[in-house]
Amino acid sequence: MRKICFVNPKGGVGKTTSVVNTGAALSRLGRRVLLIDLDPQQHLTYSLGLEGLELKKSIYHLLKGELSFEEVVLHRGELDVIASSANLEELEMKLAYIKKDDLLKNSLKYLSGYDYLLIDCPPNLNILTINAMLTANEIFVPIQTEFLALQGMGRLLKVVRELKKNRNTLLKVSGIIATRYDERKRLNNDVIKTIVEYFDDKLFKTFIHEHIDIAVAPSNKQTIFELKSRSRGAKDYLSLAEEIVLSENAENMGQKEENRSRPESFVELIKKDLKRKN
Ligand SMILES: Nc1ncnc2c1ncn2[C@@H]1O[C@H](COP(=O)(O)OP(=O)(O)OP(=O)(O)O)[C@@H](O)[C@H]1O
Ligand SMILES: [Mg+2]
Repeated sequence: MRKICFVNPKGGVGKTTSVVNTGAALSRLGRRVLLIDLDPQQHLTYSLGLEGLELKKSIYHLLKGELSFEEVVLHRGELDVIASSANLEELEMKLAYIKKDDLLKNSLKYLSGYDYLLIDCPPNLNILTINAMLTANEIFVPIQTEFLALQGMGRLLKVVRELKKNRNTLLKVSGIIATRYDERKRLNNDVIKTIVEYFDDKLFKTFIHEHIDIAVAPSNKQTIFELKSRSRGAKDYLSLAEEIVLSENAENMGQKEENRSRPESFVELIKKDLKRKN
């Protein structure tokens, strides 16, 4: 099972949107997917219309040991989801106080039957995010191709380095997802160039374009595929999921993934351009 947490300490960059729609796309490709909303803001829970159940069955109840995994998992169409609840915030304070960073990992010790676990993290690097990082073996970082896009990346990479050193984890940032991209905007293209310069082959070749349907879907409590399966947003997330699936073998063998789709992408053109300049 690939266990991936979506992290970026910067807020509003497309973490929740990407967890929901990448999860939906992966399940369209035949993968069994579990989503966890680990954010007390509950955006993923609301986006999928699961908030009514929040007080009875949620990640809070699993972490507290009040309910078992089978009791908290919600079956929503092709997706299995563990929702979040507002009282997760209280728990977060307690966990921070006692420095408990392996509670989620322990709660999911016997998790099986899924190909992908995708965890939606809050916009910070606090104890809940650390719990997610110690549960996962990969981190995907959604980056909005706008001003201050890489703000917070330095802190994130430092935390990953420290966890690897002190906790003997194989955790790594294995994918960067460019979100809200508009090829007509020069700034968006400049940000992509900077990402390629710093993170090279970690950037997925699929860029998620800025599109109104992607923003409308959560207000209808739908994934982009449920709202408009032929929209540009649906195509983007499906293409991203195809790249993720292509890297499965490499990831499972602990190698660097090389099978990124699309022959001569914008990313490759930028790389050539950068090489020429150097
Ligand atoms: N590709 C896109 N096109 C248009 N709107 C988008 C796109 N991706 C995300 N949005 C919108 O941007 C806003 C922020 O997205 P999202 O909630 O996924 O970010 P986030 O990183 O999870 O935020 P937070 O840090 O608060 O958890 C939402 O209103 C969402 O609908
Ligand atoms: Mg979010």
